[in-house]
Amino acid sequence: MTFPTTRLRRLRKSELLRSFVQETRLSPKNFIYPLFVCPGSGVQREIASMPGNYHFSVDKIGEECRDVAAHGIPAVLLFGIPESKDEKGSGAYGDDSIVAQAVRAIRGAVGDKLLILCDVCLCEYTSHGHCGVVQNGDVDNDATLALLAEASLSYARAGADIVAPSDMMDGRVRAIRRALDESSLSHVSILSYAAKYASVFYGPFREAADSAPQFGDRRSYQMDPANVREALREIALDIEEGADMVMVKPAMPYLDVICRARQEFNHPLAAYQVSGEYSMIVAAAQRGWLDRERAMMESLTAIRRAGADVILTYFAKDASRLLAC
Ligand code: PBG
Repeated sequence: MTFPTTRLRRLRKSELLRSFVQETRLSPKNFIYPLFVCPGSGVQREIASMPGNYHFSVDKIGEECRDVAAHGIPAVLLFGIPESKDEKGSGAYGDDSIVAQAVRAIRGAVGDKLLILCDVCLCEYTSHGHCGVVQNGDVDNDATLALLAEASLSYARAGADIVAPSDMMDGRVRAIRRALDESSLSHVSILSYAAKYASVFYGPFREAADSAPQFGDRRSYQMDPANVREALREIALDIEEGADMVMVKPAMPYLDVICRARQEFNHPLAAYQVSGEYSMIVAAAQRGWLDRERAMMESLTAIRRAGADVILTYFAKDASRLLAC
């Protein structure tokens, strides 16, 4: 049946009709809100490269999380900024790590009303800014695994629901799963940053977390933006090693990867709309070049349409407010 019998514009006539036939819907329930926790007390400091996002000290983070839960958002993802950095990223692990402190504070403030996810990586904690320990100028994969497991234990013991390794070392999911299971923490889930690309779009985050590598770059462990088949291998391996959920990161420049991952795997799939994706929209909106709300909603809808079940996004609160209207 073709024109004039078929007229696709017929179903675009009104807002009600368009909404009636909408294929993809956004809900606050699909969002995870990233938060940055820093030392000190009484701190809520805006991050210059990511307007509208803040560094919170441990004593302030509970209040912020109550606000996140009030928006209908089910989950937060924590990043830590340590007091000091060293070669081995010691600030990432131990029961008094900044993130473990934040987990306890959040649990105290919101109880079970939020899922607490913790990013597991060393780059915020190492003096050289790489995601693992460096030996002879190179990131040593196998020597890093025990430290990532140690960090995961620190967060899980503090009460985290989900640990999310973002370092891209080979074998980290197995090492973390084993460590959790051996410590009677088999109930803690793993969301692996399975297909994480060596992307320029992490730029604003590295300013927020002060985690830019002091030499070289991350291309020997993060993925080449040119590859999609390799992403499927990464995801398959993480699933075999015990990942409960997998992630593609960044999101919008990698919608094809999200789509392929959705088709090939049955695990819950997350996508990370990263700092650069957020800040590009915010900056263009500040100059009057893009409508902030529409760019936010269109980008989030596209990520869901591609196949992501959940989206990690700095827009989580703003988008949830809009969706509640
Ligand atoms: C840690 C990590 C990074 C991001 C999430 N976890 C930075 C990086 O890999 O350089 C980026 C998040 C963002 O840009 O919003 N490895």
